[in-house]
Amino acid sequence: MALDDLPSLESEILSRIKAARDEREIEEIRVWAFGKKSRYAELKKSLGKREKESAKELGLRIHASNNNTLQAWSARRDEILNAALEARLKAETVDVTLPVDPQPRGKIHPVSQVFAEIEAIFADMGFSVRYGPDIEDDFHNFTALNFPPGHPAREMHDTFFFEEKEDGSRMVLRTHTSPVQVRTMTSEKPPIRIIAPGRTFRCDSDQTHTPMFHQVEGLVIDKETHMGHLKGTLEAFVKRFFEIDDLSTRFRPHFFPFTEPSAEMDVAYERVDGAIKFGQGDKWMEILGCGMVHPNVLKNCGLDPDEYQGFAFGMGVDRLAMLKYGIPDLRDFFSGDTRWLEHYGF
Ligand code: PHE
Repeated sequence: MALDDLPSLESEILSRIKAARDEREIEEIRVWAFGKKSRYAELKKSLGKREKESAKELGLRIHASNNNTLQAWSARRDEILNAALEARLKAETVDVTLPVDPQPRGKIHPVSQVFAEIEAIFADMGFSVRYGPDIEDDFHNFTALNFPPGHPAREMHDTFFFEEKEDGSRMVLRTHTSPVQVRTMTSEKPPIRIIAPGRTFRCDSDQTHTPMFHQVEGLVIDKETHMGHLKGTLEAFVKRFFEIDDLSTRFRPHFFPFTEPSAEMDVAYERVDGAIKFGQGDKWMEILGCGMVHPNVLKNCGLDPDEYQGFAFGMGVDRLAMLKYGIPDLRDFFSGDTRWLEHYGF
């Protein structure tokens, strides 16, 4: 390339810089005008073949031209970048006076709602809340609760067992919240008045059973506690829970290894246009299990049955939520479907 071409090269570069519209175009110009294969680079390479004097002069002129066009290039690039930023800021403007988009909106799961309702009712009756681990040992889940090894009642719990440890024992996913009775009696002094909400596990799945479900346990231990206290407490509880003052209840004899006598509590209902209506009627719905704490359980927990008695109860929280809020299938509780939560949540 001849030396005389330099002014025309410079004006060609300047006019292309001026014409550049966006970041991509200005970047292409950088590569074309100043890159390794640019005409400036070609000219610089050719300097070696020239006479010393003319090489020096040409070098200075190339350098000046290069500086000049490079300055024009970076000024144009700044313009383009600023304009792009300006446009973006305009497009992304948030109008803070617009109403908030309510989707997606969080809701309280019916299980959480019912836990809170149950806790509030028992708190008003002077109960406090205790928690125990989901993974239990055999002693707390069974043996201390008067399920001796080999007792048939163990079979009824459809237990999830962990692998055997070296000593042959196996941990379990607790099959009920009753182990918290044991944990409380072995660590606290009577009088005891607690409820224990939590997760429980049994190998079972259908419309009203899921392998993980929720229970609330209750335990009262004192010197003069009797069955009348049990009935009064639980009747007061279900009336408040279902928000029905003249709710009829009945206690039916039952069996649990850890209570004696044991009972199940039913509430009366009738069907009105296919829907369940609690309160009165000739049908009975089982709501919870309960009983007077078995003397063997007191002894296993270090309490003297001649000095202390108590009562205990346990209820299925998911089932109570289904009944109170008319939710047909338990499995949907744990499917994580936001449409379900939108419908049944609080
Ligand atoms: N643990 C029992 C169950 O899961 C319920 C229960 C608790 C019964 C306390 C009596 C007393 O079926």
